[in-house]
Amino acid sequence: MKRRLLFAILLAIVLGLILKYGASAAPISYNLPPETAAFKPGPNLDVVMNNCTGCHSADYIATQPRGPKFKSDFWRAEVTKMIKVYGAPIAEADVPKIVEYLAATY
Ligand code: HEC
Repeated sequence: MKRRLLFAILLAIVLGLILKYGASAAPISYNLPPETAAFKPGPNLDVVMNNCTGCHSADYIATQPRGPKFKSDFWRAEVTKMIKVYGAPIAEADVPKIVEYLAATY
């Protein structure tokens, strides 16, 4: 008898929870801010778009330091780091194209 009562109470609690949370599952919509980061036009932009937009926005590239010391070598190291450290699936053949774009554009 006790078992039945316990079961009934449990059932009531579960049903209550389902009614409380399940029945009120109305769709929620979020208003996201518009995407503001974009890659600047330049050579091999398509290759960069294909390889560098999957994990983070173009802001990561736009906020890197500028100047004569931050050209091909800097960008080659950066792309290599994306591949080796963060596991970016970038084809070996695309690396020089990406480096050329980044050094010329940023
Ligand atoms: C597999 C995911 C992935 C891809 C694809 C990727 N990145 Fe990253 N990137 C990361 C992560 C993770 C960080 C570090 C985020 C942090 O520190 O908050 C990062 C950071 C950066 C930074 C900031 C400086 C730094 O070294 O942390 C730059 C610049 C950058 N990425 C450039 C690129 C470029 C250029 C490409 C395309 C060749 C690219 N990323 C593609 C994952 C990726």
